[in-house]
Amino acid sequence: MKFKDKVALITGAYQGLGKGIAKKLGEQGCKLILVDIDERVKDTEKEFTNTGIDSISVIGDVSKESTANSAVEKGVKKYNKIDILVNNAGIGGINQPLWDLPVDELDRVYAINLRGVFIFCKSVIPLMLKHKYGRIVNIASIAGKEGNPNAVPYSATKSAVIGLTKSLGKELAKTEIRVNCVTPAVVKTSILDEFTEEHINYMLEKIPIGRTGKIEEVANMVAWIASEECSFSTGAVFDISGGRATY
Ligand SMILES: NC(=O)c1ccc[n+]([C@@H]2O[C@H](COP(=O)([O-])OP(=O)(O)OC[C@H]3O[C@@H](n4cnc5c(N)ncnc54)[C@H](O)[C@@H]3O)[C@@H](O)[C@H]2O)c1
Repeated sequence: MKFKDKVALITGAYQGLGKGIAKKLGEQGCKLILVDIDERVKDTEKEFTNTGIDSISVIGDVSKESTANSAVEKGVKKYNKIDILVNNAGIGGINQPLWDLPVDELDRVYAINLRGVFIFCKSVIPLMLKHKYGRIVNIASIAGKEGNPNAVPYSATKSAVIGLTKSLGKELAKTEIRVNCVTPAVVKTSILDEFTEEHINYMLEKIPIGRTGKIEEVANMVAWIASEECSFSTGAVFDISGGRATY
């Protein structure tokens, strides 16, 4: 029970990687604040409660400060503190060349993939500073390191998440708060429904291990980065790409 006395806030926790990460932490005793725009996050909370995982859920859009404020308020009311923040909520966006995309598409993807991460960090860090402990894990993507064609808003916002992680890690380096990110290659979740088959095949062909990643594999890595054991890494980018990343 590595996370027995810990409280984690996870965004995009209704399904996919967010749910997998939440489950992994919850199974090891962590109390959970599950945030999602999809009201079915209530079902995830119920499912967790039925298996003995202590959690609450908050429905809202991560790109709105009111969602973060309400999640922090409800979380603190129930659990007193927040030790771990996993900024996982994200969308893939439309697969088209840049010149065929409406400008609004960049704003839409940016609002969730970058603005949401900024807002939740801003809301949670003062609490972590007060309690002199924190682990922040941002879910970026290999697309942010390499740049996938026909996915400029996605790739650019994921690069920005890497930049945010590096800056923030240094800002907090002298505290007990560690800020890191992970850069997965393709994992089979419903985010793939947003991508074209051609785009999914492009991403798959680039993975030397020759398969998609598993939710559990990402959850295992995130759980370690979110633990006390991860004490000498901050502003770091952890690869989980089946051998695709070359740096
Ligand atoms: N699956 C992959 O191949 C892959 C690879 C690299 C990175 N990622 C990243 O992992 C993260 C999770 O993706 P996933 O694959 O589990 O996708 P998913 O679509 O299965 O889950 C995303 C979750 O985020 C929620 N969400 C979306 N917009 C939101 C908003 N505005 N406010 C609150 N919640 C919102 C959704 O309702 C959903 O529950 C994303 O940031 C994604 O970019 C995924």
